[in-house]
Amino acid sequence: MSAGKTEKSRKEPGLISERVNRLSPSGIRKFFDLLASMEGVISLGVGEPDYATPWHISEAAVRSLERGYTMYTSNSGVPELREETARYLKEKYNVKYEPYGEILMTVGVSEALDLAMRAILNPGDEVVMPDPHYVAYDSCVILAGGEPVMVPTSQENNFEVEARDIEARVTGKTRAILIGYPANPTGAVMSRDKLLAVAEVARRHNLIVISDEIYARLVYGVEHTCFAGLRGVKEHTILLGGFSKAYAMTGWRIGYAAAPKEIIAAMTKIHQYTIMSAPTPAQVAALEALKTGEPDVVEMVEDYNRRRLIIVKGLNEIGMPCFEPRGAFYAFPSIRNTGMSSEEFSEKLLVEEKVAVVPGSAFGECGEGYVRCCYATSLADIEEALTRMRRFVKKYKK
Ligand SMILES: Cc1ncc(COP(=O)(O)O)c(C=O)c1O
Repeated sequence: MSAGKTEKSRKEPGLISERVNRLSPSGIRKFFDLLASMEGVISLGVGEPDYATPWHISEAAVRSLERGYTMYTSNSGVPELREETARYLKEKYNVKYEPYGEILMTVGVSEALDLAMRAILNPGDEVVMPDPHYVAYDSCVILAGGEPVMVPTSQENNFEVEARDIEARVTGKTRAILIGYPANPTGAVMSRDKLLAVAEVARRHNLIVISDEIYARLVYGVEHTCFAGLRGVKEHTILLGGFSKAYAMTGWRIGYAAAPKEIIAAMTKIHQYTIMSAPTPAQVAALEALKTGEPDVVEMVEDYNRRRLIIVKGLNEIGMPCFEPRGAFYAFPSIRNTGMSSEEFSEKLLVEEKVAVVPGSAFGECGEGYVRCCYATSLADIEEALTRMRRFVKKYKK
């Protein structure tokens, strides 16, 4: 069959499952496609470090390949990596996981998120999550047969989700709460007290909490609170962690889930039939990252912080009011004073000034009126982007 024919038949109605048909295409992709066809664009769009993986981490994987270490690993992941992950979680956040049974190495947090949803949801189960949120959250729930339920958050509350707002949306069908702090797209972090209040709601209603802590290491002037480390919550928490952001390892595709044995066993069942094991060289690199990558993390975080201070100050000065993000590497300024929708703003800014940002509406209804600017890019680019955006906002400000 020709490629053209395959393409055509794929589009015929009825061939695609209702679940997949319900997913809307990622609002981010559209901008990347447009961007790819243009020259001279400064991108504040892509949510990944501008660093290459520190060489000693890559080198560990290269050496392992030279030694012929190219086979599958245990479904759960290389034992030493699980042990090191457990040690890391204990040392950093004082949360204790058993490496043999409570930790599963995955293909990034992306896979861990998917496995978590598929392991715990029955058809129609509801998962409560903040709006705006990372683009995969609602899609993963839908693909697992569940129903995402949005809890609005706002700039007035620093985009922290309030426990009472979560509780107001709990029904007989609610199965889980999905949170991700530090947050993509807002850069918000959650205070320990607010997380404790969420834990209390989960306890009262017997809900599982999935806590995506991929940005745990990228915090500025505040301490990250590991949700699973709060007293009494570990037994109903699935902690998701990864290497992509802190160690600049997005392309390696490696992350992990830590959770009670029964949940990890269920997630491993799906993982073994669909993935088998996380990529072997990536596991070797992750082990090296945990063992010797701390100084790299500290250096990169200091550098992100410098850029964060400059972009947030700059955005506020040019008429794009921006609350102070304390985590991740995103600023989330308001564009309301231009009267444009966030999609219109992003498209016009790209075409007229060649600056790529992501419309806030790509992350949920509450993201409307904002754009996401990723500052994991050079200071020179940030400064040039601010100059261009100043011109743009001046032209359209109402
Ligand atoms: C909040 C959040 N969770 C998960 C992921 C996916 O991470 P990974 O590269 O580990 O699959 C991302 C990537 O941007 C993210 O922003």
